[in-house]
Amino acid sequence: MVGVEVSSASCCDMPGHAGDNILVTGALGQIGTDLVSALRKTHGTETVIATDIYDRGNTDGPFMILDILEIAEINRLIRENSIGTIYNLAAILSAHGEKDPDLCERVNLGGLQNILDASKENRCRVFSPSSIAVFGPDSRPIAYQDSPTSPTTVYGKTKKKGEEMMLKYWRNEGVDTRGIRYPGLLSWKTIPTGGTTDYAVEVFHHIENSGEYTYFVEEDTKLPMMMMEDAIRATKLLMEAPQSKLSEYRTGYNVRGLSFTAKQLSDQIKRYRPQSKFTFTPDERQLIANSWPEDLEDSAAVSDWNWNSSFDLDRMVKTMLDGFSQSSSSDSSKIG
Ligand code: NAD
Ligand code: SER
Repeated sequence: MVGVEVSSASCCDMPGHAGDNILVTGALGQIGTDLVSALRKTHGTETVIATDIYDRGNTDGPFMILDILEIAEINRLIRENSIGTIYNLAAILSAHGEKDPDLCERVNLGGLQNILDASKENRCRVFSPSSIAVFGPDSRPIAYQDSPTSPTTVYGKTKKKGEEMMLKYWRNEGVDTRGIRYPGLLSWKTIPTGGTTDYAVEVFHHIENSGEYTYFVEEDTKLPMMMMEDAIRATKLLMEAPQSKLSEYRTGYNVRGLSFTAKQLSDQIKRYRPQSKFTFTPDERQLIANSWPEDLEDSAAVSDWNWNSSFDLDRMVKTMLDGFSQSSSSDSSKIG
């Protein structure tokens, strides 16, 4: 469990919303694992319906199978469960998306469209994340909130288009849509798969288990990252913010956590695990990393909803090492 609470204060402030319960799609993924726990801690276990396209069989609250490509199922589930807020986490991430662009477009855009149409129909609020992947090489080294969005990956293009779709549903249909351009997220509870920033989590798992890690990016690769605890807190702040505080960035706020190179990360890990061995064998994910900004500027989130990050590199590394060594890090079934 993350030690972050999500307030129910403004959970469902849209007039005529369908209900007070919360639906989370893609709930078994990296973010969903932590977000569902945080939401249940605040709103109560039975209030939060976790869904995904497969069943892991070990969820500790209501869980249902839901494919976001099935709009009739989305509508049925919303109505039968009095849903008023949807956290749409179902997606295909960057590395997976380059391998299967058709699936990436269908889920990230077709699925989002279904969620938005169902939300319009049932008066639900929607949080659906964007990503640093909306930026392209012209945003390097630092992507500002207003930097041009020229993504070169299929995933990035779906995220850019997703932000635009969500804004359109807010402006034209009055659907309360909100989103954050998450950096690469770091958590010791779930090993991410299918993304480009995955190395910054994998490294901890491998160091705790074998003392060695081979990065799939060069040692000077630098990307924006954020601890999951901060990402959940940012999500909470954005979802609680009154409408009047939100600007035209409401579906794609930049949020900064921390930025570091793979070498800086390795050096910091070595301070606590001096025997660690690191090698660097870049693969096709290097090209994706090279197309993203190294760092972010987030003054809009700071001024609109009081965003502030709380981890530096040392605190992040210590937290990740402690987390992996305390959890059963030998459970290799966590690796997807
Ligand atoms: P994840 O890959 O860990 O989880 C996604 C989940 O979606 C998986 O459990 C998968 O089974 C499910 N899914 C896939 N297709 C589906 C479908 N058709 N219907 C229902 N569920 C389906 O992803 P995540 O890291 O938890 O990311 C969640 C959101 O946050 C995504 O929109 C992603 O783009 C965004 N994001 C994540 C990061 C990160 O570092 N994790 C960074 C930026 C943005
Ligand atoms: N962490 C994600 C990825 O690497 C960024 O959206 O795909």
